[in-house]
Amino acid sequence: MSARSLELGIIGAGRIGQLHAEHFRRRIPSAEVAMVADVAEGMARACAARYNIPAFTPDYHDILERRDIDAVVICSSTDTHARIIEEAAAAGKHIFCEKPIALDLPSIDRALAAVREARVKLQIGFNRRFDASFRRVRQVIEQGEIGRPHLLHITSYDPAPPPLAYIRVSGGLFLDMMIHDFDMARFLTGSEAEEVFALADALIDPAIGEAGDVDTAIVTLRFMNGVIATISNSRQASYGYDQRVELLGSKGAIAIDNNYPNTAIISDARSVRRDVPLHFFTERYNESFVAEMTAFVEAVLHDAPVPVTGYDGRVPVVMALAAKKSLLEHRPVRLHEVEQAVEDMP
Ligand SMILES: NC(=O)c1ccc[n+]([C@@H]2O[C@H](COP(=O)([O-])OP(=O)(O)OC[C@H]3O[C@@H](n4cnc5c(N)ncnc54)[C@H](O)[C@@H]3O)[C@@H](O)[C@H]2O)c1
Repeated sequence: MSARSLELGIIGAGRIGQLHAEHFRRRIPSAEVAMVADVAEGMARACAARYNIPAFTPDYHDILERRDIDAVVICSSTDTHARIIEEAAAAGKHIFCEKPIALDLPSIDRALAAVREARVKLQIGFNRRFDASFRRVRQVIEQGEIGRPHLLHITSYDPAPPPLAYIRVSGGLFLDMMIHDFDMARFLTGSEAEEVFALADALIDPAIGEAGDVDTAIVTLRFMNGVIATISNSRQASYGYDQRVELLGSKGAIAIDNNYPNTAIISDARSVRRDVPLHFFTERYNESFVAEMTAFVEAVLHDAPVPVTGYDGRVPVVMALAAKKSLLEHRPVRLHEVEQAVEDMP
């Protein structure tokens, strides 16, 4: 590996793969994308042309076989992540993988074991940890600026549901969408959840319910350090992407508002108003995506620890599985029950 530039391959050239490709091209000078793979070859070709990537392929094994490629960025559909992690680790590649690692714990545990055995780095794509406002909340807690944290409220609404085809393979709202908020709750409280209780329904689109998923949910959580938290998710807020956090501590509170395209406040005889928030994750979290990938590249180039580990990728899946179980059984579920169920597997 050259001292200054990391050679990478991107696997999966859909929404998020293209976003990372653009950032490598324009914002991250210490890395070069050498090849992009997508089973839909046209997607790989278009991504290569658009972001000046010298090679593309329908088969990601072509990336794994390239000795000059140091690391892979896995942006394919969720059901492929764990297998690709195992193969990439065996090929000696460092790995950045989009969330979630997988939808079940045995697959995650096999992938993490392969990473440990190969002694490669693995970073998981919880980009919101790199958002400047959320980092400030974490700092407030770490530095005791509002005393001991007591109550955390995370609001996370999308502007519109994804296509049903995406929902069907996504693992559902808890594993696909709320997974970011489960991670954020751990990150902000600096603690682990003990117990969750979920209420949810398909209130936006009955077709989402027919596909076996929910589109509207509230989960309450109790953390080991005593914090009581709520996470509210909706697949549809008419005014756009709503991403807020409130934390109340023994000596004060901190609140994070949405990010807006401008700071204009328009006042007239009838109302005082402003424009709607930045529309979706590509706008709201753009800088955090650049920061997470820069951190990954730096960790590999300087052989430093990654800031979001495989373990950090695993725990929110346990939380999501506990929330699913809670919804199904209509009772609070301890995370321990989910772990126990895996241990009890034949
Ligand atoms: N961090 C975030 O905020 C964030 C945002 C969006 C998506 N994601 C995650 O990124 C992943 C992709 O999501 P997306 O929205 O880009 O989906 P997408 O459907 O737009 O893109 C996925 C691409 O992967 C390709 N693909 C599928 N199997 C493949 C394989 N075996 N080899 C190579 N390519 C393959 C598909 O052809 C498709 O082009 C999902 O796991 C999702 O959860 C994360």
